Amino acid sequence: MIDELAYAGPEHLDAAFVAGFDRKQGYPDPAEDLDALAAQGLGADSTLVDLGTGTGQFALAAARRFGRVTAVDVSPAMLALLRARAGDAGLGNLDCVRAGFLSYSHAGPLADAVYTRHALHQLPDFWKALALERIARMLRPGGVLRLRDLIYDFRPDETEEVFRNWFGYAAADPAEGYTSEDYAEHIRTEFSTFRWLLEPMLAAAGFEIADVAYQGRLYGAYTCVKR
Ligand SMILES: C[S@@+](CC[C@H](N)C(=O)[O-])C[C@H]1O[C@@H](n2cnc3c(N)ncnc32)[C@H](O)[C@@H]1O
Repeated sequence: MIDELAYAGPEHLDAAFVAGFDRKQGYPDPAEDLDALAAQGLGADSTLVDLGTGTGQFALAAARRFGRVTAVDVSPAMLALLRARAGDAGLGNLDCVRAGFLSYSHAGPLADAVYTRHALHQLPDFWKALALERIARMLRPGGVLRLRDLIYDFRPDETEEVFRNWFGYAAADPAEGYTSEDYAEHIRTEFSTFRWLLEPMLAAAGFEIADVAYQGRLYGAYTCVKR
């Protein structure tokens, strides 16, 4: 077994980085993802697991809409911030668990949904495929995986063109967003994979893709149903 903390991205373990994380990310409105899950039948009685929850921007919003949310992350710093936020918000239906894609053990009834955003790319492809299979096992039949990640939707020979265009959108100030150096580090050290590799992994784990959308040939949003 790999040490998931060693793959987690050192910045995600750093309390100072975590404190500025939401500002740097410019987190999108969670409504689109909440609606995508509601469109698959999730409601006030449903259970959801958020893997790689980070500061819990989605988990907090999901706990206001769904029955029970389990927010999972390997980073103690991320979870400490989220626990404080959940306490401030008085959300008694949000549990925080320190674990990873490969080590989280789902107890109790199978979940109705799993959500994961911008976290699966921390794992190399072999481990990503195992993580997807583990996700399928924690879901009930007909359960939903909403997956967002930085995924490469292009052929290898288009790499330079797509990355050049992407770097054009980089932030100048590292406190305000991801800079071109952050993007370069992502490419060098993290494990975003090609769309044409990820989709067979989803199928092998037992998922059917119900809906998929890409932005900039880099950011994928999938709604998958466990067969
Ligand atoms: C870029 S952040 C995204 C956080 C959040 N999902 C969001 O969209 O704001 C990636 C998160 O994945 C977590 N992470 C990294 N490797 C992980 C693993 N193997 N299992 C679970 N979480 C992991 C990091 O600690 C970090 O909180």
